[in-house]
Amino acid sequence: MKRIGMGLVGPGFVGAHHIDAVRRLGFVDVVAVAASSEASARKKADALGVPKAYGSYEALAGDPDVDVVHNTTPNYLHVPVILAALARHKHVISDKPLAMTADAARRLLDAAADAGVVHAVTFNYRGNPLVQQAREMIAGGELGDVHFVHGAYLQDWLLEDTDFSWRLEPEKGGESSAVGDIGSHWCDLVQHVAGRRIVEVLADLTTVVGTRLRPSTSTEAFSRGADTGREAVSIRSEDLASVLVRFEGGAKGCVSVGQVCAGHKNGLWFEVNGRRASLRWLQERQNELWIGRRDGANLSLAKDPSLLARSARAYAHLPGGHQEGWSDAFCNVMRDIYTFIAEGRRPGDPRPPAFATFEDGYHAACVVDAILESHRRGAVWMRVDETVMAGR
Ligand SMILES: NC(=O)c1ccc[n+]([C@@H]2O[C@H](COP(=O)([O-])OP(=O)(O)OC[C@H]3O[C@@H](n4cnc5c(N)ncnc54)[C@H](O)[C@@H]3O)[C@@H](O)[C@H]2O)c1
Repeated sequence: MKRIGMGLVGPGFVGAHHIDAVRRLGFVDVVAVAASSEASARKKADALGVPKAYGSYEALAGDPDVDVVHNTTPNYLHVPVILAALARHKHVISDKPLAMTADAARRLLDAAADAGVVHAVTFNYRGNPLVQQAREMIAGGELGDVHFVHGAYLQDWLLEDTDFSWRLEPEKGGESSAVGDIGSHWCDLVQHVAGRRIVEVLADLTTVVGTRLRPSTSTEAFSRGADTGREAVSIRSEDLASVLVRFEGGAKGCVSVGQVCAGHKNGLWFEVNGRRASLRWLQERQNELWIGRRDGANLSLAKDPSLLARSARAYAHLPGGHQEGWSDAFCNVMRDIYTFIAEGRRPGDPRPPAFATFEDGYHAACVVDAILESHRRGAVWMRVDETVMAGR
């Protein structure tokens, strides 16, 4: 297989996992990283064992050894970083959310289509074998008609007023905080699993921690800030959300999203109820899939390749009883995208399921915009596409 050169802009918390995941594929060379200065890029490159370091994303995008640019910068940099990569006709893999607004996401989708390159968004929970099993069971009709899709994405790393992240600053993270940051994952995941899009939303958003003590130096996600040099800042974006959703085809649903819920570390879960059976998957117990029945015993299906549907089996790499986790699913997503690139496929060609594109990123941004607009108007139903049209 032809070797592929990878360059990454924004080597922070999740950037290191992008590098780890592509290294496991065996046919990708991590060529360069770019950070906000040459000195910080060099430091990160040395720590991650990457040969080249750039102080600007434009310089990385111009490197002829880089075939694919990964974007793992804070949200406000996604548009310029991605446009710089597309201007050099590089394939782009961006972390979520694709952009801070649906309009900006649309601009990136159009620019990627014009560039004719492969474009992807890391909605990484699609890469879990039991997520693919759930998708396959629903598509195959095992649940019957689906009428309810519900769940939550709860964390606690922003519970205290001393917890801080760029995600809470609208100019860096976007108008939405929790919904854009993790709600976008839940929306993409359930739409993927249920095989239908969210078309309407009704949202009630809350800012539980209205004043935070921002550290003078920036901190990584999930880490506690230094105890020196803090200033009080007032927070406008939500850290808690309750959202009702309606899917195309008539299924209803609801989701709770929060980053101030003690005890929940990465508590992403969904349940799908159909006329014949139900399914439930919890990210924190990702090697089990609950199957609920009315006229038979409920089951807990273990992640055992020999028990999975054929398409889901491709995402499990260890025998039953050998637990697979977050970074394995992340690697599965990279495998889907890089195999597509290595095989010379074109952007419109059929894709493997864990490969989400800028179109999926755009749709997730439309859902987030509709949620914000619903709340702004006093918790009324908002059509997802109408919001997009209004904003264009
Ligand atoms: N898929 C997931 O599960 C997941 C998890 C975490 C974060 N994310 C997403 O990844 C992105 C990054 O989040 P994070 O938690 O890793 O943030 P982070 O703050 O830990 O890392 C961001 C990095 O970008 C660097 N950076 C800042 N300005 C830059 C510039 N001008 N040029 C190059 N680099 C620059 C920072 O120095 C830092 O190293 C966000 O969009 C976030 O939503 C996704």
